[in-house]
Amino acid sequence: MKKKIAVLAGDGIGPEVIAQGLKVLDAIAERYGHEFQYFHADIGAKAIKNTGVPLPEATLKICMETDAILLGAIGDPQYDNSPDVKIRPEQGLLELRKSLGLYCNIRPVKTYKKLLHLSPLKKEYIEGVDMIIYRELTGGIYFGEKGKSADGKSAFDTCSYEVKEIERIAKHAFEAAMRRRKKVTLVDKANVLKTSQLWRSTIIDYAKKYPEVSLDFMYVDNAAMQLVLAPAQFDVILTGNMFGDILSDTSSVLVGSLGMLPSSSVGQKTSLFEPIHGSYPQAAGKDIANPIATIKSVELMLQSMGLYKEALTIGNAIGHCLTKGIGTPDINPAIEYSCSQLGDVIATIIGGFEVNLDKLQQGVSTII
Ligand code: IPM
Ligand code: MN
Repeated sequence: MKKKIAVLAGDGIGPEVIAQGLKVLDAIAERYGHEFQYFHADIGAKAIKNTGVPLPEATLKICMETDAILLGAIGDPQYDNSPDVKIRPEQGLLELRKSLGLYCNIRPVKTYKKLLHLSPLKKEYIEGVDMIIYRELTGGIYFGEKGKSADGKSAFDTCSYEVKEIERIAKHAFEAAMRRRKKVTLVDKANVLKTSQLWRSTIIDYAKKYPEVSLDFMYVDNAAMQLVLAPAQFDVILTGNMFGDILSDTSSVLVGSLGMLPSSSVGQKTSLFEPIHGSYPQAAGKDIANPIATIKSVELMLQSMGLYKEALTIGNAIGHCLTKGIGTPDINPAIEYSCSQLGDVIATIIGGFEVNLDKLQQGVSTII
């Protein structure tokens, strides 16, 4: 198979984790006889620096002409302490999502037996957690009318949703539930918000198409609590843009590291794949970031292309590393591997080769 892939490494640790994702894609191409052609483009703070805008036209053009987009991370601390700045790196990502119509963001959260000890939560609560968050991505308060008064003393963001925006993501969530444990939990704030009441009535109607799926409802404040109290109860969580943003970060605590969680965003045409973590500027350039979230995003990309065997090969290679205790400092403080070493190991396993850990470790100063 021949595929064109837009590669937007972005800011902070983005380029380091993306390099590992590409190593893995190359190993898959080699093993299964595919051809992946990469088109690199700027986004975020890097794009602002190079072109003055966070999403240059050239980048958008590349994204529109490729079969899939692989994105690293966006954000730079330089912008964080001056919230009034007109141009922000994050706008690049939001514009990209909107321009490509990527309305459905999918964030799978599954705990690994080998990593249970990393979570601050008790093992018995997080064992067996396997859920997917379906987050609406191009509507709600992120994209509603916003503004600030002339005297700077007030500001507003508007949250609005249309039935058709709710139904189109509901389709993805219910279809996923049918392939899984057949349970959808709609998370909203219908006791207060009009938009949430619209989500509820729309989803109650929509669910009639899927009589086998059990549907329940949870207010977002309760959902935040349930996610840490009894996370194994969830199968598919369906929710709006901002609630999904917040709850997906919370859910990463269950897995033990934000560096483990991938995501895909699908919509009208090309899909986008990215780790859910941010640009982690403190780690940028240090080769310590966990590349697994990006590598798992590549796995999701291959699944979306119908390359199931290839995707499984990646999942197995990651599983093998975790079993052997091969990991970056966030998941394996005892024996640390660098970001690029972990990428090398996973690519080597995919290539069908045995990894000689002794040899690998000889070059690692942090190994005892
Ligand atoms: C995410 C991020 C983005 C969001 C930011 C970078 C705009 O936090 O993908 O979860 O809020 O959607
Ligand atoms: Mn987020």
